[in-house]
Amino acid sequence: MPLSADDQARLDALHARFTALRPLSVGYPCNQQFDYSPLFRFLEFAANNVGDPFSGSNYRLNTHEFEREVVAAFARYTKAPEGDWWGYVTNGGTEGNMYGLYVARELLPEGMVYFGEDTHYSVAKILRLQHMRNIMIKSQPNGELDYEDLHETLRIHRDVPPIIFANIGTTMKGSLDNLQKIRAILDDLAIPESYIHADAALSGMILPFVGQPPPWTFPDGADSISISGHKLLGCPLPCGIAIARKRNVDRIARSVEYVGALDTTISGSRNAITPLMLWHRLKTLGDDGLRALVHRSLALASYAVEKLRATGIDAWRHDENSITVVFPRPPDSLMKKWVIAPKKKIAHIITLPPMNEAVIDEFAADFVAARLAG
Ligand SMILES: Cc1ncc(COP(=O)(O)O)c(C=O)c1O
Repeated sequence: MPLSADDQARLDALHARFTALRPLSVGYPCNQQFDYSPLFRFLEFAANNVGDPFSGSNYRLNTHEFEREVVAAFARYTKAPEGDWWGYVTNGGTEGNMYGLYVARELLPEGMVYFGEDTHYSVAKILRLQHMRNIMIKSQPNGELDYEDLHETLRIHRDVPPIIFANIGTTMKGSLDNLQKIRAILDDLAIPESYIHADAALSGMILPFVGQPPPWTFPDGADSISISGHKLLGCPLPCGIAIARKRNVDRIARSVEYVGALDTTISGSRNAITPLMLWHRLKTLGDDGLRALVHRSLALASYAVEKLRATGIDAWRHDENSITVVFPRPPDSLMKKWVIAPKKKIAHIITLPPMNEAVIDEFAADFVAARLAG
């Protein structure tokens, strides 16, 4: 049965609304400029990536081969140890964080999770779901972990193996925890067993392409890393990457195999289209295209700070490698037009396409006007 004229009109109105909102959606870390039309023909299949992308599946309408190549590219970006990594394409950053904490919990069942105040809200939910003991660590004003508080808290709980949840780019401020400093604290306290998971939702696709990245990769001490696919790369379907040391994953896989199944991923049925999209994006941009995208976004972030400051708005970035431009919470009237995400006293914009200088100028002018009216 064809859609009724009313229903068709609703779809048309939704499309028009999305089209109008795209350039105004400046407060969320989503690159909205992409062309996946060469892949539209795959939407006619009931494809499904159920199971481990590296061990095959009886359901042969899958894109495991492409998924493996995507994970291999991320292994390169995160400097994963040769021959000792495993990963898969997730439904987004949240699932990647859940996977990392799941591996950590299986390895250190008595472990205590330490996470900073500025951690994404979904992590508290994951900790509840997995029944993991946890302690929140104070943040420095810039949003980075307060290392003194971490040191002192770990010292008090020296008998419990620590699982550190590190933020490689916090949601609100784009600040980065330093894995070398965390490792140094663990060494100083002579802690024999520990695990570090790095949540690199947005910055995990920025740092591989900058000159002087802070320590955030596997050689810097990460045991698992989660990166979102729909953020910097851009994708109409939420997705991400979970990647971990293979020897740790194997210990879990074996324990599941013991009860009859080699089931390494969190979801059973998994999206087969997102691995294809990520693969297409990585192939068509290449490392040079990704570097250009990252440097354009960083230059725009620097432009946005200058422009907002020039108009009397106290904007800042917490890190030169961050594309998150923070400013005092604007009047609510500004948020009627612009899609931005305030939290308490601050808000931010994230300088990803299709943002450009003209959009930033318009935003700054509206911000000033809203304050004057306000
Ligand atoms: C730092 C950080 N971690 C995790 C997430 C959750 O990622 P997702 O929305 O892809 O599940 C976000 C989302 O904004 C984030 O900023």
